[in-house]
Formats: sequence, structure tokens, C-alpha cells
Amino acid sequence: MSYPEVRPRRLRRSPAVRRLVEETRLSPAELVLPLFLKEGLTEPREISSLPGVVQHSRESLRKAAHEAVAAGVGGLMLFGVPTNEHKDETGSAGLDPDGILNVGIRDLVSEVGDSTVVMSDLCLDEFTSHGHCGVLAADGSVDNDATLPLYASMAVAQAQAGAHMVGPSGMMDGQIGVIRAALDKAGYQDVSILAYSAKYAGAFYGPFREAVESTLQGDRRQYQQDPPNLREALREVDLDIAEGADIVMVKPALPYLDVIAAIRERVTVPVAAYQVSGEYAMVEAAARNGWIDRDRVIFESLTSIKRAGAQIMLTYWATEVAQKLR
Ligand code: PBG
Repeated sequence: MSYPEVRPRRLRRSPAVRRLVEETRLSPAELVLPLFLKEGLTEPREISSLPGVVQHSRESLRKAAHEAVAAGVGGLMLFGVPTNEHKDETGSAGLDPDGILNVGIRDLVSEVGDSTVVMSDLCLDEFTSHGHCGVLAADGSVDNDATLPLYASMAVAQAQAGAHMVGPSGMMDGQIGVIRAALDKAGYQDVSILAYSAKYAGAFYGPFREAVESTLQGDRRQYQQDPPNLREALREVDLDIAEGADIVMVKPALPYLDVIAAIRERVTVPVAAYQVSGEYAMVEAAARNGWIDRDRVIFESLTSIKRAGAQIMLTYWATEVAQKLR
């Protein structure tokens, strides 16, 4: 009978030694809180498929932002939800300085100043009547090149409203270059770009559609990536960085840890990951049934996303996790 000379278990013996050798440690500053602002609301409204997340009124948005900052959250990502009468074929309310998203950016900046990073979703899908991320061509497909100038104007409007960072999420070819050029030309060289570079056309965005009251007809497979593809994500990332992306993001997060890891190896810009609505909803639903330990699963999933290589994480649990880390 021989006994092991090397015993990895020695370093797992006590909470103290486990803490000492811990390789991945979460911190509030790397968490970004997505927020939904709904036009015309006077009270926040629950989103049934995202329990614990709400559509904010302007007032409750300020409160949520304040709370996140107090917890040390690193950034806020704002989505605007217009009323139906403000949706049209080209998503013009997204470009309007008085549209709900730009109003919300101003509110956030006035509430939090420079104490956290104010980011805004740069995409037309919340504002178009058909729910697509761009304008439609005559055959009903999303017209890439006709969409680009709209993104350029949207970026400038968001910068004018005070956004520190814009988050183009529409997956149009060339969007980063066009947005960078438009921002620079308008004098916003210091506004940075968080590029949703590798964004997959998967099924994990279901609850988000309720959150933004999406009217999407069809799907996004002609512009978002196909889930089986990894090398394609590297190509998207290379292009976005060449066009001026300051940070690249993978989305969703947990089902795409291999993509996060591969990108982390390849690039020198910061890598972000978006733990999306479906990831959140699965955990909350299972926890409500008593099937999993909610808090441990939340920490384990975020730790795994970070371990894979994401240094910034968008999560609907950002404030709660930041508070627990303090
Ligand atoms: C597009 C956008 C989406 C999400 C973030 N930005 C929806 C989509 O691409 O269909 C999804 C986020 C989530 O599910 O939490 N503006």
C-alpha cells in the first residue's frame, strides 16, 4: 500500500487556507448594472420573467443608480423603453435628444457624476416598430449600410447627453468605425466604446424582450452570431478593435466561457461579458422552487465568468453582489 506524497487537499483544509490560495476573487468595481427606463412611468414596474428587476420611472432610476454607486458598482448600462407611439420604422426616438434613453442618460449623469461609468445601449431595437436592430430594406432584411448613419447620430446624441461610454449592440458590420469617426468629429474623443463584439443569436434573451417590450418580428440570425461558431467571434473582435473598440464584450456569458477565454488570450483591450436575462431568470426560477442555493449559484457563475477571462461583467445582480462583497 503506497500513500500519496503530494496532497492537494492540504490547501483545502480550512477557510483560511482556501482564502489564501483563491485564484479568482470578485470585486464590486468590475460589475456593471443594466437598468431599464420606461417612458411615462410614475412608479417602477415589475418584469414578470425577471423577478427582482424592474422597468424604472425616472425617479426610481435615480434611486437605483445611487444605490449601485453606494455599493461600489463599476458602471451602469442604460436601456430606454419608449411608449409604443414613439416607435417607428427607423427608430427615430433613439436619436432624439429628448427621447427616453437620452433623457435617462442625463438623469444618470446628474445623479452619479463621475463616481461610476455611465454607459448607454446603442441600438435601435427598442425604438423600431418591427423590433430589429436596424432599418429594413425593401425585402424585409436588416439594411446594414442604411443603419450605420443612424448609429452614428445616436452615438453623438448619447455623448451630448453625457454618456461616458456607448455600447453598440446591433452587430452591424462596420458599426464601431462609423461610431468612432462620428464621435471624434463631434468633439467626443473621450467617449469610449464598449463593443458587443461577439453577440450570439441564441435563446437566452427571452426575458429581456419583456423588459423592453420588444415587438421583434422574426429573429436576429442574419446579424448576430451563430452559437456553434468560435473563430467567427475572434474575427469580429479583431475587426472591432481595428475600428476603435476600447473594450470588447461577449454575450451571453456562461454558455460562452470558451469564447471569453479565447478572446482573453488574443487581445490586449479589456474583455467584458454580459450575463444576460435568460441566465438570470434560470437561476431565480430554480431558486424559487427550492432546487438550488441561489446565492451560491450567483457567486459561482460570476466567478466562473471572471475565471474564464472577463474582467468586466454586466449582471442584473450587480448591486446585490457588490453589497455582499463589502
Ligand atoms: C439589443 C440588446 C439585447 C440585449 C442587450 N442588448 C437583445 C437582443 O440582442 O436581442 C439582451 C440582454 C439580455 O438578455 O439581458 N439592444
